[in-house]
Amino acid sequence: MAVQSLPPGQRPPGHPDLLSPIFWRDGRVVMIDQRRLPDAELWNSYDSWQDVARAIADLEVRGAPAIGCAGAFAAALAAGQASTAASLRVILRQIAETRPTAVNLGAAVHRMANALASGRDPVREAQAIWDDDLAACRAIGAHGAALLPDEGTVLTHCNAGALATAGFGTALGVIRAAIAAGKRLRVLCDETRPFLQGARLTAWELAQDGISAEVIVDGAAAHFMGTGEIVAAVVGADRIARNGDCANKIGTLGVAASAAFFNVPFYVAAPHTTVDVGTATGAKIPIEQRAAEEITQFGARRVVPVNAGVRNPVFDVTPARLVKAIITETGVFQGPYGF
Ligand code: MRU
Repeated sequence: MAVQSLPPGQRPPGHPDLLSPIFWRDGRVVMIDQRRLPDAELWNSYDSWQDVARAIADLEVRGAPAIGCAGAFAAALAAGQASTAASLRVILRQIAETRPTAVNLGAAVHRMANALASGRDPVREAQAIWDDDLAACRAIGAHGAALLPDEGTVLTHCNAGALATAGFGTALGVIRAAIAAGKRLRVLCDETRPFLQGARLTAWELAQDGISAEVIVDGAAAHFMGTGEIVAAVVGADRIARNGDCANKIGTLGVAASAAFFNVPFYVAAPHTTVDVGTATGAKIPIEQRAAEEITQFGARRVVPVNAGVRNPVFDVTPARLVKAIITETGVFQGPYGF
């Protein structure tokens, strides 16, 4: 592993023109360590699939499309490391299973497996997956921007931004595109316990672009919906079932339910790689359970009694009926969904 700690705002050599959390350069996968943001802008680079798989599992890189890109780059590294076709197949399965909920990861590794089987260059294929994701995010932004009003406050949950994709973002891509089109929007970022993707990552990334953003605790989302200030909620997704049920970061369901209660439009923005046509309804989506320590510890301090039990599902499923529209790169879909 090579580590580079850069001054705020400085990007490592080879970094694409827009903020991207992960890219390929000279046979290595370069990624910003999202566990360390916003305190440090630490860029790690890896040349083994094992390091990249560990980085996915540890949330050094996170967000459904970004872990799809990471999985693709890991597969490209594995293609150079594995000694036999059979061992490569086993490794690809291991990479795909690093995190269970985001279908983009399995879909990207599957695409890599097909490319390898037909003799295509693995690095080119992985780069094409990255390129496709960036193009999809830009198209999602263009489709979604039209749905937002000319001014007001938009609420988002977790981080579905540049940091969660090849670049530009899905939910934040919609907000970025709307602001670029002249709409006067402010953002409320749910802090998103326990990993604080909203407080640490969304607030950091929006500040980079000079977009006005404020952080609220997750429990305040319903309060702000009730004040009438929120004109729309826009979130990303990790897996969308055929019927339009959407899995996303834990707490999204509460946002959708309070949005429905207060008549606030609730949108999901995601590329087609997030749609799992093999899963009929949200009930079949696997929900990742993570370590209790993510909840019991607040930094170095333990905040839960030693004997207390803890449950840590990190995703929930929003039923399709609570979703006003799903914004994809091919257009805007409304229920009844039938992907
Ligand atoms: O656990 P994470 O940070 O990987 O969860 C990320 C989310 O839930 C995002 O909202 C989702 O992946 C969409 S990212 C465009």
